[in-house]
Amino acid sequence: MARPAISVESLTQEEAAAELARLAEEIAGHDRRYHAEDAPTVSDAEYDALKLRNAAIEARFPKLMRDDSPSRAIGAAPSGAFAQVRHSRPMLSLDNVFTDDDVVDFVASVRRFLSLAPEAELVFTAEPKIDGLSMSLRYENRRLVTAATRGDGTTGENVTANIRTIGEIPQQLPKDAPDIVEVRGEVYMRRDDFFDLQKRMAETGQTFANPRNSAAGSLRQKNPEVTKSRPLKFFAYAWGEASEPLGTTQYDVVQRLGDWGFRINDRMVRCGSTEELLRRYHEIEAERAELPYDIDGVVYKVDRLDLQERLGFRSRSPRWATAHKFAAEKAITVLKAIDIQVGRTGAMTPVARLEPVTVGGVVVVNATLHNEDYIKGIGNSGQPIREGRDIRVGDTVIVQRAGDVIPQILDILPEKRPPNSAPYVFPDRCPVCGSHAVREEGEAVRRCTGGLICSAQAVERIRHFVSRNAFDIEGLGEKQIEFFFNSDKAALKIAAPADIFTLRRRQEALPATLDGSLERLENIDGFGAVSVKKLFDAIDIRREVALSRFVYALGIRHIGETNAKRLARHFLSFEALRKAAEAAKMPEGKGDPGNAEWQEIVGVNGIGGIVAEALVDFFAEAHNREAVDALLAAGVTPLDEEPVAAVSSPVAGKTIVFTGSLEKMSRDEAKAMAERLGAKVAGSVSKKTDLVVAGPGAGSKLKQATEFGVEVIDEDQWFERIGHNA
Ligand code: IVH
Repeated sequence: MARPAISVESLTQEEAAAELARLAEEIAGHDRRYHAEDAPTVSDAEYDALKLRNAAIEARFPKLMRDDSPSRAIGAAPSGAFAQVRHSRPMLSLDNVFTDDDVVDFVASVRRFLSLAPEAELVFTAEPKIDGLSMSLRYENRRLVTAATRGDGTTGENVTANIRTIGEIPQQLPKDAPDIVEVRGEVYMRRDDFFDLQKRMAETGQTFANPRNSAAGSLRQKNPEVTKSRPLKFFAYAWGEASEPLGTTQYDVVQRLGDWGFRINDRMVRCGSTEELLRRYHEIEAERAELPYDIDGVVYKVDRLDLQERLGFRSRSPRWATAHKFAAEKAITVLKAIDIQVGRTGAMTPVARLEPVTVGGVVVVNATLHNEDYIKGIGNSGQPIREGRDIRVGDTVIVQRAGDVIPQILDILPEKRPPNSAPYVFPDRCPVCGSHAVREEGEAVRRCTGGLICSAQAVERIRHFVSRNAFDIEGLGEKQIEFFFNSDKAALKIAAPADIFTLRRRQEALPATLDGSLERLENIDGFGAVSVKKLFDAIDIRREVALSRFVYALGIRHIGETNAKRLARHFLSFEALRKAAEAAKMPEGKGDPGNAEWQEIVGVNGIGGIVAEALVDFFAEAHNREAVDALLAAGVTPLDEEPVAAVSSPVAGKTIVFTGSLEKMSRDEAKAMAERLGAKVAGSVSKKTDLVVAGPGAGSKLKQATEFGVEVIDEDQWFERIGHNA
């Protein structure tokens, strides 16, 4: 862990008291961001460093321990305090761009996707990106019926009672509003209101770090009366489900939301070119400090809704919008040490331990150094970075923090390098288990080969398993997992995920004679009867889990959330997925088609050979199958996925190949369109291809299609077939 600037030993009582106050506030902020808002701004290691520092100061000055000391609390606001709401349309997030060049690229990618001629007009809206929390307000028959937080984008928390206390949110919409409409936007707190609230709350000792946390904390109150006493506001800027079209452009629909009584942002404008977007960005940036609320960038959206629809979505963000974030903040500090963190796949990541420094209001003590080559001054494709300068312990470094991204070291100040410094030698053994660490040809990452014997990997696998997008078990943080993992008591040990689900049983089976013993969780420092019950409840409610979360939690290489969802949607049940994965024989050599199960897996939309191989490899290992069996035996039930209502379209279920040049749409749009209509788009023609759409210049694929007797149509016929009038 990083040692702080002033050692605890040399703190005066006054300094200690001031620092404990600051730490209490800062840690409470991190707790809220992590537990309540699902948006941590520091790494776990940084968070731990703060907690350790707090504990060390308290150990030296026990009398100074505050009532709101972070050592008194375990976890934060209970999730589960609010009922869950499934969003009828997912609440997506936005891609970020940072530079003017990125904006040029964004506009170009939109034009390319739409196959727009160079002279064709393309209008965007530009508006401030409000730093609050997003909210979906559902109106049925013009009455507010549900208000939900974003949550993981699919499911949020029902905060209707609290939202009803916000005066400026209409409870009732006018007659011209549709029967069903979901109005989306940002709940926020003005800066002056935030400062007033801070003053009011100062006596209670519980304050918030910034307006955003304050808005989030105020909304997540069990008692709506408390929320009512907080000055919350709401900007409407988007919508979800609507029983009838709300308009034809983004701009007009937002104005309409304004007409219905919602506050809308008066800085939203239409821009007809990249230059105009950038000009607006710089104007808003210049006004930033004077705006009464916090913003962290400018959002650009394609104005025409028909174009938005054509552009559609990637897995978590729309293609038709992006957030242009304000510049990252930088600071200069000293690199005190480089530690190696071992991840669940054995990947060894170098972490910079820094002399604490404030970057844009946040104390940074750790930053990522990416990988071995990055430290040496070598980029991803072998090219020199930082003009080839390496990074050494003792160097004075430039740290950058952009939004909620982990801080990174950008460069060093060569003139400040101590004369006796030595190049950093990346370890060739795992610092945790001592196994060899190897770097495979073409890989940037060095990995520990310890596998099952490496405790760091085991702990990281469990952390991944309980993480937010996997099993999402409240109360099992890094500290607790390490405690359970390192315990040598049979009733406490958690060596693998399945043990989480037998913990309660093992604890309850302890004989009464052990009531005061350290085998019992409630006797252990930091737990206590209430938090033990909370933990058991948090585990129990996750015994039934969405199939995609279950698959993601297994931590199979290359299977992140998106691929887990793809597999879940295709196989619908864990049994079916597992059966296919276990039966799939890997293709022996290139070009070998493998068996039917292998074909089925690689045939899942978006799943390619590498992912399929990782999946099959996983189930080929006996210890992985045992770990899965143990989970099922411990009562974990992956819920079957609801089959997605089959898209009824003339091409649903068909395999289509596009070839030659297309004139009315780009290749990407053609693919996205076909997939929306339930078809699968393949890159090459085989006997299984149902349809080839060939434009001018089609060559070998067209020939193969004729050979295999596959139906061939042109672009116009394609539009006729799917019912568009091209
Ligand atoms: S549009 C499908 N507009 O930024 C796109 N989002 O980073 C929906 N946000 O989750 C979002 N101001 O909470 C949009 N003017 C604005 C926004 C805005 C703030 C937030 C929102 C979203 C996040 C994405």
